[in-house]
Amino acid sequence: MSQQFQHDVLVIGSGAAGLSLALILPDHLRIAVLSKGNLANGSTFRAQGGVAAVLDDTDTIESHVDDTLNAGGGLCHEDAVRFTVEHSREAIQWLIDQGVPFTRDDGTSNEDGFKFHLTREGGHSHRRIIHAADATGAAIFNTLLAQARQHPNIELLEQRVAVDLITERRLGLEGDRCLGAYVLNRDSGEVDTFGARFVILATGGAAKVYLYTSNPDSACGDGIAMAWRSGCRVANLEFNQFHPTCLYHPQAKNFLVTEALRGEGAHLKLPNGERFMQRFDPRAELAPRDIVARAIDHEMKRLGIDCVYLDISHKPEAFIKSHFPTVYERCLEFSIDITRQPIPVVPAAHYTCGGVMVDQHGHTDVPGLYAIGETSFTGLHGANRMASNSLLECFVYARSAATDILRQLPQVSIPIALPAWDASQVTDSDEDVIIAHNWDELRRFMWDYVGIVRTNKRLQRAQHRVRLLLDEIDEFYSNYKVSRDLIELRNLAQVAELMILSAMARKESRGLHYTLDYPQMLPEARDTILLPPTYAG
Ligand code: FUM
Repeated sequence: MSQQFQHDVLVIGSGAAGLSLALILPDHLRIAVLSKGNLANGSTFRAQGGVAAVLDDTDTIESHVDDTLNAGGGLCHEDAVRFTVEHSREAIQWLIDQGVPFTRDDGTSNEDGFKFHLTREGGHSHRRIIHAADATGAAIFNTLLAQARQHPNIELLEQRVAVDLITERRLGLEGDRCLGAYVLNRDSGEVDTFGARFVILATGGAAKVYLYTSNPDSACGDGIAMAWRSGCRVANLEFNQFHPTCLYHPQAKNFLVTEALRGEGAHLKLPNGERFMQRFDPRAELAPRDIVARAIDHEMKRLGIDCVYLDISHKPEAFIKSHFPTVYERCLEFSIDITRQPIPVVPAAHYTCGGVMVDQHGHTDVPGLYAIGETSFTGLHGANRMASNSLLECFVYARSAATDILRQLPQVSIPIALPAWDASQVTDSDEDVIIAHNWDELRRFMWDYVGIVRTNKRLQRAQHRVRLLLDEIDEFYSNYKVSRDLIELRNLAQVAELMILSAMARKESRGLHYTLDYPQMLPEARDTILLPPTYAG
């Protein structure tokens, strides 16, 4: 039997953004936080680098703003950048107050007594990345989760996969408001109905659309696809960030080698030991990610090699082991001792810079529906996200969305009883091979045709194929019971189509979008905004 639930706030996604919002809201609100699998399966848990913030006396808000604008290829929204950076210190203080064990630097402290080690990453002109060794995401996630568990008003629900949002329009009612969501309970196999006064999409990005990615299996663009189907505009989905350095090893699925290694002096090298980044940018290994990833891709294609190498072995062994214990241990599992040997690395899909269009409070185009974190498009990242700005964005926008919810609360009544999910027309699937096949096909053609270097022809091919897949998936979805794989495939294919359409609309090369057919950057920087068929205006 399917179930009905009522909450004040329904948070879809249990990473940094979703947990922060739940914790910032007051205890008198009933909050549900949904996780598709186990709580720790999201991208936050894997983040290595850290959180960018202006914490050092020699650093300034202006400098962090300028670096972000420069990395963003002229497409950042300066108001969003300024808003985020101006709230960076407050966000870090909140994390420290929650108990996040950031790495300390007992040698130095600034005027306010901050005594934390700050590292550097690409595009940053100052040391401004606060971190917990090289496992910052895990430290943040574990702390926030432990805090959430102390709050009886926060229900943490695992194995819950949101299928679609419930809006007034979907129910044929007057208005557009989001009223909740249909959610598959993977344990019971039933689709439950969650009614809520406010719904938050905090589902992360969509890097799983690519064959090679640093992201966990959950990064399927669920929030972007659900928002699109409900009538929300999306923006700048052509800007997919490829992290330059993922471990290249047949058994090392998805393992990222943090950019902080380059921040602390690691060199990128060709198989013959030659450094090459100076040929591409005066900042060499510390150029922004789009430049470093493209340079690696260029060298791999030029020389016909499978990977390049990241070498930090010239640094003292004790330094490497204390700053990068996660990378050290993981590489050792593959018999690579990073204190002595270079690490084989390749670029892999890492971050979705575009997303659901929101304002400074995380409002989407659908009343009552918010998007925060990687799901959203705030204007912060422009054409290329600067490293470690994304976790910062999660905390800053979680707070501003929570503040807005509290402001609106008195005007928003308890939701009406919602109709149950109708599964009367569907049967159990006996053809799961179709889902598996379509997953593989989608991710492979996105990698080959919509990757680091694009052309009109490749994009047209991808568009043709994604249309075929979407038709097949629609048919499957109409006839068979939903499963996690089917829901994710449907979302991923939808987001892939939006990415392809966005890439086709951009007739220039800018930041992460590079096409051989339009290698120049146009004088005017414009967002690519897509309007869904159900957009209410
Ligand atoms: O390289 C890293 O540790 C990743 C940082 C980020 O994506 O912001």
